[in-house]
Amino acid sequence: MGKLAITGGEPIRKTPFPVWPHGCKEELAALTDVLESSKWGGQPFPGKHSVAFQKKFAELHTTKYAQCVNTGTVAIQAALKAIGIRPGDEVIVPAYTWEGTVGPVLLVNAVPIFVDVDPDTYCLDARLIEKAITSKTKAILPVHLGMRFADMDEIPRIAAKHNLKVVEDCAHAHGGKWRGKGAGSMGDLGAFSFQSSKLITSGEGGAVITNNLEYMELVQSYINAGRASLTDKFHHRIIGFNYRMGEFQAAVLGPQIDRLPQQAKLRERNMRHIEPRLKNLPCIGVLKPEPRITSEAPYGYVLKYFSAKAKDIPRAAFVAALQLVGIPCDGLFYEPVYKSSLFPVDPADFPALSWGGEKTLDLRSMFSCPEAERAAYQEAVWFPHQLFLGTTEDADAIANAIEKVVTNIEELRGLDHQAIQNQRLGRADRES
Ligand SMILES: Cc1ncc(COP(=O)(O)O)c(C=O)c1O
Repeated sequence: MGKLAITGGEPIRKTPFPVWPHGCKEELAALTDVLESSKWGGQPFPGKHSVAFQKKFAELHTTKYAQCVNTGTVAIQAALKAIGIRPGDEVIVPAYTWEGTVGPVLLVNAVPIFVDVDPDTYCLDARLIEKAITSKTKAILPVHLGMRFADMDEIPRIAAKHNLKVVEDCAHAHGGKWRGKGAGSMGDLGAFSFQSSKLITSGEGGAVITNNLEYMELVQSYINAGRASLTDKFHHRIIGFNYRMGEFQAAVLGPQIDRLPQQAKLRERNMRHIEPRLKNLPCIGVLKPEPRITSEAPYGYVLKYFSAKAKDIPRAAFVAALQLVGIPCDGLFYEPVYKSSLFPVDPADFPALSWGGEKTLDLRSMFSCPEAERAAYQEAVWFPHQLFLGTTEDADAIANAIEKVVTNIEELRGLDHQAIQNQRLGRADRES
């Protein structure tokens, strides 16, 4: 019997962390209001809850306009349509992200071009973008991943130089600010997800934000079966789909945007509280501080595990041991999208990959992004944001558990355990 729970010892954390999502009486009142109003639909008759939320959401992110949609994936797709992405255009995306960043590029029949991430942030590495630009490149799609921003000084500069558009994937960045500017406001459009793990959630949902009225009108038409936008100043008529968000979903977003600033402070305080302890551990690294982020929006706390400094004990064993100590966390949270089992792309299904070019594009074998692969398969450890919505003692429990596993790391040598096997698989391939 060892000291760690995974080898038969006592877990140190038996009480649960705060749950997420967290519905309160305000959400209940808003839902009841919708129920009794008989106005349940989304656009084309936006209800008062969605109108009020959109206004606050745009303001929070320092943009003029916001439009709710039914998922974050659709938010990206609608933004790509608004900037006029056409079949065969190339869109630069980070290799390390959720597959939902990249799927919309294929859905508008464009070609995603994977670029590696910066090891300091795990976000799109701006220093590598220019090498990936070709005559077909039309846009850059950075993701503000985890707890950092892609470099929003450099990316708009590169985009302007090469006449490209920028769509920011802000699925992890609700309320985040870079030099005082809201996530999603520095590119042409920003796309958010309100899926259930996100910092503001309606179970499923999303939003597009922009300062550009023409783009907003295109988004509104595209997600509303092609109907004219609310303002219709530019008179665009396009094929659209029903990608609307209903009023029940909008209703639960309102109270959450009000609570977000308070929650952001609490998360940040708890994360800062444990960081000095983590920094002292030989096999643990924390992401480089980024002073240009003026409001943090950590979707997850992300640290680095260096197995070479932990007697070569693999990350899968470290993470599994932490989980059994009672700390929810994950290693293989994202994969380089081109390697993921959720990206079984068949060029025959996507004409931009297989028609008219010199050769068929096999997105699964064309790219090699070593930093994304290191983060995905060896280094990154993700802790869900709600762990940091509790007390200082809750935060201490995370640092205690990490210290305990590191101190007793030798117990993990050669260990076989279901939790370790699970950690060797991507999220989609695990037994639940
Ligand atoms: C980085 C990133 N982009 C896009 C999405 C897509 O959002 P949704 O799941 O709401 O479609 C998600 C969320 O899951 C995400 O984490």
